[in-house]
Amino acid sequence: MNMFEARMNELYELVKYHAGLYYDKDSPEISDAEYDSLVRELRQLEQDYPQYARKDSPTQTVGSQASELFAKVEHVTPMLSLDNVFDLNPSITPKKGQISQNKLDSLEGFFSGINQDGGFVCEMKIDGLAVSLVYEDGIFVRGATRGNGLIGEDVTENLMLVDAVPKKLVDAPAGRVEVRGEVLMTDERFNAVNALRESRGEKLFVNPRNAAAGILRNKDSKDLIPMSLDIFLYYLVDAERFGVITQSGALSWLAEHGLPVQNAYEVCADIVAAKEFIQRWQNERYKLNYHTDGVVVKLNDLTRWPEIGATSHAPRWAVAYKYPPEEARTRLTDIKISVGRTGVLTPVAILEPVIVSGTTVQRASLHNWNYIRQKDIRIGDYVYVSKAGEIIPQVDRVDESSRESGLKRVMPPCAEPVRCPFCGSEAVRIPDEVALRCPNRASCPAQLKESLTYFASRDGMNIRGIGKKLAEKLASSGKIHILSDIYTLTAEDWMSLDKIGELSAQNILAQLEGSKSRQPANLVTALGIPDVGKNTAELLMSHFGSIDALMSAGEEELAAIEGIGAVIARSVHDFFGNDENRRMIEAFRDLGFVMGGEAHNAGGKLAGKTFVFTGTLEGMTRDEAGEKVKAFGGKVSGSVSGKTDYVVVGEKPGSKLKKAQSLGVEVLTEAEFLALTGITYDKD
Ligand code: IVH
Repeated sequence: MNMFEARMNELYELVKYHAGLYYDKDSPEISDAEYDSLVRELRQLEQDYPQYARKDSPTQTVGSQASELFAKVEHVTPMLSLDNVFDLNPSITPKKGQISQNKLDSLEGFFSGINQDGGFVCEMKIDGLAVSLVYEDGIFVRGATRGNGLIGEDVTENLMLVDAVPKKLVDAPAGRVEVRGEVLMTDERFNAVNALRESRGEKLFVNPRNAAAGILRNKDSKDLIPMSLDIFLYYLVDAERFGVITQSGALSWLAEHGLPVQNAYEVCADIVAAKEFIQRWQNERYKLNYHTDGVVVKLNDLTRWPEIGATSHAPRWAVAYKYPPEEARTRLTDIKISVGRTGVLTPVAILEPVIVSGTTVQRASLHNWNYIRQKDIRIGDYVYVSKAGEIIPQVDRVDESSRESGLKRVMPPCAEPVRCPFCGSEAVRIPDEVALRCPNRASCPAQLKESLTYFASRDGMNIRGIGKKLAEKLASSGKIHILSDIYTLTAEDWMSLDKIGELSAQNILAQLEGSKSRQPANLVTALGIPDVGKNTAELLMSHFGSIDALMSAGEEELAAIEGIGAVIARSVHDFFGNDENRRMIEAFRDLGFVMGGEAHNAGGKLAGKTFVFTGTLEGMTRDEAGEKVKAFGGKVSGSVSGKTDYVVVGEKPGSKLKKAQSLGVEVLTEAEFLALTGITYDKD
């Protein structure tokens, strides 16, 4: 695999992981700007190296899977997302007579080649959650989230509680009306909700968008809905049925029928006027009491939308221009250290409080010591801070013009932490990495707290009752040295931790017992191997079938798996190469965990047989063929080895065919594969 393919595979994983946190869990770990830049890099690579692009790429899908909590709703007209652009003008001026322009990067590029008669409507891009509202004869009957664009969640009951959603339209037309817009939370309401949650000892929301999504997509926070959610509508489905032929007409129609529409929009005669709107609103938008992260530019003449069309996930008649993250200037008064789940020591800037994009910032990430050195950030400096997606603000750069004399450079070894501030272990620099790490994975209380929380999380062992607070107490109790130790604690041990009563202790024990039968992929996720999230863990387990097989895999074998890049392969290999970690796996086995491979559809007719697919199959995709093999108890591998039983060859096979021939592995055509396995096509 070359470096581009490897990076693309890595990006697939990263984007999927972070999209899951954002859309499904409403609790992102990185800023929107960082997420956007991962997607941008992936799109660019997909454009440059289409041969490595995957059909299931996260760039080709919209939003998330509908949650099981709600009934599913099929969107008769798909709910699309929007493509993003980050520049107003193309970065390179096209040569005369040449239209080849990278459409991905600019507003002007996006609309080049599209008939722009009738101009545009520019609307602020609301940072909220897309919903569809359906009215029958003027009565609100159904509300749904976007979900994956085709299937959303039925959140009618919750939307009924939102004051801003009219339950009855003004001057309603007969029959069905569907409108779409954005559920949001204003800044004041966000502060009020968080204040309430703080007083109840509940986790605070990181930003208004996540708060709005979290509350709307939850059955247990109904009480919070009336005080927290608002809505703006911006889309009238089948507008022409109502005699509406422009987007500005649609916005007026919505308002006339009693639906809330934001005021921050304008008709712009041409792209020059659209750019002017974008520039004007760059600072104006902070006067709005809700968050916006860009401007949506839509072709005003909506009668041409159908012919202009859409990609699988976004229309070609509209695009979102995203503003660069906002920066604020403040003084850096100190540098402290925080320790993450994998022991990485991160320097954190302590700041004089400053407001960035509407909220106060007092701490900001400095990433690592190289970052500090490269940017020459010194204690006492005035620095620029940005908040982007309002997750963890970061220090971008120093205002050198206002540096006072006498400030010392932050330089190793004196300023570099030689010891972990939490457990006193000597910090190590990982070869090839800029990060410093506390090597004391097993018993550093700061790491243990983070890894316990992660271990117990939903994607991990899903042990309800063990959250951050309890994890912290456990970690500092001295009762736990490695993760598996939590299974050896007695009810008394649990009760000796603050505020744990007998009932809660018994409940935790029951949860722990139940968690032992979770899927091996959950255990692999829960281990917290760096760079291995839920998706990667599932991919690894579907490939290896058991934790034992995974543990004994070589680095190259791991990297040969489609979807696993060099970084992940190394990380997995290193993790299982560590004696302490291996002992922990043995402890899990002794505790009775499901390790995989026990009853791998042993009765299936392909049991014990390993297949490798190469080239394009005629009747199904390789993934579909693989699924069928697995359903019959067989295994599918991404690489040919002595253990491979059959290599199935489609059109334009890769190097795997040669390898099979050189190893003397049996090679099957697609027809032979079907005949041998008795597999039939679903269609035709
Ligand atoms: S129009 C067919 N207008 O941004 C696409 N979307 O990043 C219709 N959004 O999915 C979308 N403000 O959830 C439109 N004024 C606005 C918007 C807006 C926010 C959201 C919407 C969309 C997402 C894409």
